[in-house]
Amino acid sequence: KLKAIICPSMLSCDFAQMGKEGQRMVDSGADWLHMDVMDGHFVPNITIGAPIIKSLRKALPNVFLDCHLMVSDPMKWVKDFQSAGASQITFHFECIEECKNNYSHKDIIHRINECGMKAAMAIKPKTPLQEKNENSKGLNALKVIEENIEHLNMILIMTVEPGFGGQNFMEDMMPKVKLLRQKFPHLNIQVDGGVNVETIDTCSKAGANVIVSGSGFCVNLLNHNIVSRFDILKGG
Ligand code: DX5
Ligand code: ZN
Repeated sequence: KLKAIICPSMLSCDFAQMGKEGQRMVDSGADWLHMDVMDGHFVPNITIGAPIIKSLRKALPNVFLDCHLMVSDPMKWVKDFQSAGASQITFHFECIEECKNNYSHKDIIHRINECGMKAAMAIKPKTPLQEKNENSKGLNALKVIEENIEHLNMILIMTVEPGFGGQNFMEDMMPKVKLLRQKFPHLNIQVDGGVNVETIDTCSKAGANVIVSGSGFCVNLLNHNIVSRFDILKGG
């Protein structure tokens, strides 16, 4: 049976208090901590990098650190994130052809696994799963997933344009979640962006089992509503 996984995004916390905030999330029932890494090139924002992950790992030796790399060249950073103590690296499907990288999806997945971390792949809102589009050039995301399914721990379906916390949830991404859930009953499917007490049920009904929330958890520090909502999902 698939496990419901609660995954607060640390992007919404006070970075000066990240260790405490992470601990508070774990104490409140978080399963993983979601770390949003942005390079100012793949997305129009700069956030944190491996050195911060390293500090957080020292503060929280046992927590699962789910690192969402919104970067143009993920291959370049795999080793640094391994040394920093990342548990999982999620790279973007679009980074391969869009950023003219001369390695394949298979290559990056292999490299992440080889470094002892779980590998996951993220899909931006404008990237369809089945048809080819301008973002993905000649590639079809579903095919890449099918071909690498044994080596992928998770697929992330973005429910906002990556780059910033606090945006509105895109419900029209749910067909992608449904399709993936139909095809892969045992796959971890993560949703990220605009997930809160109002939108979480839609995500879970579509088939998502790994739930990221930034502003839903962290801005309102004592908002335990969403945690209890997750408890209900976990029980059901
Ligand atoms: C957006 C990030 C998200 C972000 C979500 O690019 O990938 O993880 O922190 O924040 P909320 O939950 O506020 O939309
Ligand atoms: Zn994220």
